[in-house]
Amino acid sequence: MFTPVNILPANAEAITEAVKLLKTGRLVAFPTETVYGLGADATQDHAVAAIYAAKGRPQFNPLIIHVAEISGLNKLILWNDTARLLAEKFWPGPITLVLPRNKEASVSLLASAGMDSLAVRIPSHPIARLLLQEVDRPIAAPSANTSGKLSPTRPEHVIESLKNKVDLILDGGSCMVGVESTVVDLTTDIPTILRPGGITKEQIESIVGHTAVASHDHKIVSPGMSASHYAPNISLRLNAESVDLDEALLAFGDASKIIGGALRLNLSANGNLKEAAANLFSMLRELDRPDLRGIAVMPIPNNGLGIAINDRLYRASLNDKS
Ligand code: TXA
Ligand code: MG
Repeated sequence: MFTPVNILPANAEAITEAVKLLKTGRLVAFPTETVYGLGADATQDHAVAAIYAAKGRPQFNPLIIHVAEISGLNKLILWNDTARLLAEKFWPGPITLVLPRNKEASVSLLASAGMDSLAVRIPSHPIARLLLQEVDRPIAAPSANTSGKLSPTRPEHVIESLKNKVDLILDGGSCMVGVESTVVDLTTDIPTILRPGGITKEQIESIVGHTAVASHDHKIVSPGMSASHYAPNISLRLNAESVDLDEALLAFGDASKIIGGALRLNLSANGNLKEAAANLFSMLRELDRPDLRGIAVMPIPNNGLGIAINDRLYRASLNDKS
């Protein structure tokens, strides 16, 4: 059956509706000055999992967390002097800062793909700002397109790409900047430009002096491969059909045939991949205990979100624990 896409001109009423949807874990596409974002409440694991499902991302790339005000970031990240300078100069605007994640941060671990850092941004688009103010929660928002496709700068692009995978599109016409925000990593000694974008290297250097640019084959470009990416300290055994006494079991689906394990958690007892994605990083952290020899992970179907889950688990299993 054909379901019409829910698209509304971004007036006050539509923004109230968008806020309601976001708070209940639904997806809302909204205009920013760079491109349209596919927004979800960053504090809800399931809402964040829905973003990855809608985009069909084969990997869990970390997402940018959007807020309305600089004060809204205090509980999310740890500030440093460079971050304050860049924030003061360029926010609200098309720059994203990667900073150490505050341990108190309420943001889903899935949104930052389990990393210890968080990418944050304060957009300048009036509709984005109004939405973020009213929802008063951090919003995770990648560009509102299917993975691997061009970023959308008009509401029609969002419809073409995501069709009815999004619960509401706020129509704010064309995006002014048209390219994504510049992503700057401030967890390194020298600020490192991970992705060129709306604010130029020269503009950034006029504030912070020298910057480094991550080359395309540089590890840091794909956070999934970088050392800063979270991997458990204990070893990970994939496709496990049994579990030892000194291992933890990370189950998926019916685990009644697997007996034992020092500790057991189930990503999704009824085999739901969205639920499994939502639980993945928090459960890995919970099972990563020095008193355990390793984590045995039951097989996970390699389709839909399962592809991203298996990709992440596979990378974590390669980590050299010696
Ligand atoms: O302009 C934009 O930034 C748009 C609008 C919607 O705000 N958003 C956007 O998000 O382009 P996305 O998910 O398509 O791109 C996020 C980029 C990716 O390159 C990702 O690897 C990087 O930010 N990123 C996010 N968190 C990171 C982190 N903790 N460390 C390093 N890179 C990170
Ligand atoms: Mg994108």
